[in-house]
Amino acid sequence: MGTAIVTGGASGIGLATVVLLARAGRKVGIADRNADQLASVCAELQAQGLAVFAVPLDVTDRAGCAAAMAEVEATQGAISTVVTCAGIAAVSRIGDEANAAGWDREIAINLTGTYNIIAGAIAQLKASPSASVVTISSVVGMRSGFAEVGYAASKGGVLALTRQLARELAAFDIRVNCVAPGYVATPMLAGGAGDVQDWMDIHTPMKRLGRSEEIAEAIAFLTTDAASYITGAVLPVDGGYLCV
Ligand SMILES: NC(=O)c1ccc[n+]([C@@H]2O[C@H](COP(=O)([O-])OP(=O)(O)OC[C@H]3O[C@@H](n4cnc5c(N)ncnc54)[C@H](O)[C@@H]3O)[C@@H](O)[C@H]2O)c1
Repeated sequence: MGTAIVTGGASGIGLATVVLLARAGRKVGIADRNADQLASVCAELQAQGLAVFAVPLDVTDRAGCAAAMAEVEATQGAISTVVTCAGIAAVSRIGDEANAAGWDREIAINLTGTYNIIAGAIAQLKASPSASVVTISSVVGMRSGFAEVGYAASKGGVLALTRQLARELAAFDIRVNCVAPGYVATPMLAGGAGDVQDWMDIHTPMKRLGRSEEIAEAIAFLTTDAASYITGAVLPVDGGYLCV
């Protein structure tokens, strides 16, 4: 297996994914824009003997993503797995100009950023004998959530991007799947709007937040040969949010 790249790997779901992949023996590049957090997480995991390395980047910078992926190939070996966890949630209400920037940032990071990193690695993925991409949408891409019009649209876009790429890239033996988390206890949610436990009680049969590790298990599975016939799939990991 080649090198794995996890964007947003310095925190939350991305970090849990880095740990799982590295513990399974993968060499993992932690790609994140938060330089301080990236350095400390990387040092901590390396001290545990895990084969991780830092890839400082901002997923909104398409040329920067391409350059970073080329550098990974040159210094760490060709990439065969990309997991796109980098994302933000901002308040974005329609017609509220004060929050219009939220829409722009969510589309730029969550949707275009997903495209940018996959595009940056695509030549290496095509050259790999069996490659996989796992994108991260959200239940909010399929069912409405808090005051998150930009978030919902960006995550719906990730679903469409995933299905389209699965179709186009199957010819190159690249599987492309999507995990759609429900509400998960991470730093992102801590900054979110509304009373989360109330929302859980009403909308989630399991009546609790997910843990990053529970999402990472699904992501890691989709990267392995155990999922060799799965492509274009959307796997909700949501405590039942979507079945209500
Ligand atoms: N936490 C939830 O409830 C939840 C639910 C559904 C989906 N998600 C999705 O899961 C993914 C991970 O979220 P999380 O909860 O772990 O959040 P988090 O805030 O803990 O981690 C997100 C990481 O992405 C990085 N990042 C943000 N913008 C970036 C950029 N432009 N370039 C590079 N890195 C960037 C941050 O520095 C951070 O390390 C996101 O796509 C999020 O939308 C989260």
